[in-house]
Amino acid sequence: MPDTETIYATFERAAEKCADPAPLIYQRLFELRPEFEPLFDMDTDGGVRGSMVQTCFDAILGLLEGEPSQRVIISSARFSHTGYGLVEADLDLMFGVIRDTFRELLADEWTGEDETAWSNLLQEIAAID
Ligand code: HEM
Repeated sequence: MPDTETIYATFERAAEKCADPAPLIYQRLFELRPEFEPLFDMDTDGGVRGSMVQTCFDAILGLLEGEPSQRVIISSARFSHTGYGLVEADLDLMFGVIRDTFRELLADEWTGEDETAWSNLLQEIAAID
């Protein structure tokens, strides 16, 4: 089980560095997987991207609280996104990108404890099918 307090604190500490990390998250995602960018062509005001990141944040925080509904949300997103041409494992990329964005924002303030807590969290998410 990931360390809930540690993960929460990374959210708060990252928010102090950058109030809205969504653009950084998508920039990183699209660098990794350029073919995902045109999927958002219709999202001219960034509203869909913003709400999708919020859904991911809620899923992470809900998971840490032990809310079963957030497992269902991750599971159903794996399935619903096959409609956009993603494979189910692609969804894990987004959570890894969120971790990487926070790690970059925190730079040398990112600790070994943060790294371990996030690795455990990402493993737990990857195990949700
Ligand atoms: C690899 C990363 C992902 C890509 C490329 C992706 C792509 C998309 C696209 C193209 C849409 C539709 C946009 C539109 O209507 O214009 C969408 C919607 C949505 N995404 Fe993602 N997504 C990703 C990861 C996730 C994750 C991890 C979650 C949450 C656990 C999530 C939750 C949602 C939700 C709730 C919607 C709106 C309704 C729906 O289609 O289910 N997405 N996503």
